[in-house]
Amino acid sequence: MITLGGGVIGDLGGFVASTYLRGVDFVQVPTSLLAQVDSSVGGKVAVDLPEGKNLVGSFYQPKLVLIDTDVLYDLPDRFYVDGMAEIIKYGCIKDKSLFEVLEGVKSRQEFMDKVDDIVYTCCDIKRRVVEVDEKDNGERMLLNFGHTYGHAIEKYYNFTGYSHGQAVAIGMAYITRISERLGQTANGTADRIESILRQYGLPTSDPVNAKDVLSAIKSDKKNLGKKLNVVLLKEIGESYTYPTTEEYFLK
Ligand SMILES: NC(=O)c1ccc[n+]([C@@H]2O[C@H](COP(=O)([O-])OP(=O)(O)OC[C@H]3O[C@@H](n4cnc5c(N)ncnc54)[C@H](O)[C@@H]3O)[C@@H](O)[C@H]2O)c1
Ligand SMILES: [Zn+2]
Repeated sequence: MITLGGGVIGDLGGFVASTYLRGVDFVQVPTSLLAQVDSSVGGKVAVDLPEGKNLVGSFYQPKLVLIDTDVLYDLPDRFYVDGMAEIIKYGCIKDKSLFEVLEGVKSRQEFMDKVDDIVYTCCDIKRRVVEVDEKDNGERMLLNFGHTYGHAIEKYYNFTGYSHGQAVAIGMAYITRISERLGQTANGTADRIESILRQYGLPTSDPVNAKDVLSAIKSDKKNLGKKLNVVLLKEIGESYTYPTTEEYFLK
């Protein structure tokens, strides 16, 4: 099986490859920026159900991921911006110098001049993280930076208000403002994140009250107080998980 396309094609094809005849080999040829830096690497393949995202799936590694960044010249701007949110995330959690390179990029053309190095760096970060924690019990959680609140925002707007990247951007800015205020993140980090997000045309906040947003991810009031790990930055390029509850997002 060869999947040629964005993350939807890669996830669907990968899932089919993992189950057809109890598994056939597959190769990913990702063509969107998000698929090249994120979904094609790591072996998570899944499809959505009406009840929720990624509910049917497997861990199934491709034999090869073949990336040609030239195909990105055709990618519509909104999908370019969406992929940028995940790239900025990699800089935030693991690679200060990637973050600084991104801060210096002034246009999509300038980004394309550096794209091979940037895509390689992102894949390499994800590869390293997944190699130590394929099944997502520890280190891999770091890849969820900005995603808990981001998912809640996506869900609050019924997956029609913001794209995934936009919601993650809001989530990264939101949680870093809280952790910085609580002294868990170096001063100035939230401002720096907000400014790079603006630079790439990504949102940094949403007017809806956090309480209402969080109620979107709660099927039931009893979930209040439920334990969860949030991903915080010590500073740009260094992240850690912090065990807390959903109330953290209301601080
Ligand atoms: N498996 C994982 O670890 C993982 C991680 C992140 C996201 N995902 C999944 O990935 C999906 C999102 O991926 P996506 O953003 O690539 O979405 P997508 O596959 O819908 O692609 C986005 C759009 O870009 C178009 N496109 C793709 N490549 C193009 C190109 N080179 N030129 C012009 N148009 C092109 C597609 O036709 C589509 O309209 C979601 O379903 C998400 O759940 C999976
Ligand atoms: Zn994501």
